[in-house]
Amino acid sequence: MGFLKDFCFITPLAEWSKGLFINFKCSNEDLDDFFANEAYDYQKQLIGKTYYFALKENPRSIVCAFTIANSSVSVKNLPNRGKKIKENIPREKHIGNYPAVLIGRLGVSSDYKRQHAGTELLNFIKSWFVNPNNKTGCRFVTVDAYNSPDVLSFYEKNGFCYLFSSLKQEQEKTKNNNLKTRSMYFDLIELFGPWAEIQSAIIP
Ligand SMILES: CC(C)(COP(=O)(O)OP(=O)(O)OC[C@H]1O[C@@H](n2cnc3c(N)ncnc32)[C@H](O)[C@@H]1OP(=O)(O)O)[C@@H](O)C(=O)NCCC(=O)NCCS
Repeated sequence: MGFLKDFCFITPLAEWSKGLFINFKCSNEDLDDFFANEAYDYQKQLIGKTYYFALKENPRSIVCAFTIANSSVSVKNLPNRGKKIKENIPREKHIGNYPAVLIGRLGVSSDYKRQHAGTELLNFIKSWFVNPNNKTGCRFVTVDAYNSPDVLSFYEKNGFCYLFSSLKQEQEKTKNNNLKTRSMYFDLIELFGPWAEIQSAIIP
């Protein structure tokens, strides 16, 4: 049960539907602009695929949207965090790069904020990559989360961890003292452990 599951449908962005995003406002102008003007070109270049949920009763009304792409988590340059990332992986399966899916963009319409649509959306994305029909191995969901308390709190609340153990470490490693985003990840293996109850809330 959930708003997206009960009242919405999901569909990939298509050339005809990009115009619908003129009315989509998620209170972040860069994101609004990306979905309306750039997402389809990214998709044509095969570097980011965009999907959106719209209302069943009004298919022109978009509730939330996201763009995803193949990615990886490299533990080679993460001496401390690398250990944490690998702690749920058997030693004999330790490798330098783990397959992941990157949430490149994600936004919930301002009309539906703080009603757990974003949480349901993250659960939906997670569920795709543990689905037995998923075509490739995918261990992590990653995101470069906007470095603002509300967005970081949103991802933390949804089980995401920081790739770097502190802001200072991330600044040092990226040689950037003015980070606009924080690298975060969710270990999909958790859906088979303490987070297993999520699976019953997942949209099939
Ligand atoms: C960030 C965003 C996706 C959250 O979507 P949402 O549907 O409003 O989030 P939810 O209702 O599922 O929130 C889940 C939890 O996240 C935290 N959270 C969400 N929005 C928050 C805010 N503005 N301030 C503080 N905490 C917040 C809360 O802990 C919340 O749980 P609670 O409401 O029970 O306290 C949405 O606000 C958005 O689209 N923002 C603009 C675009 C953006 O910043 N996207 C992220 C790109 S990295």
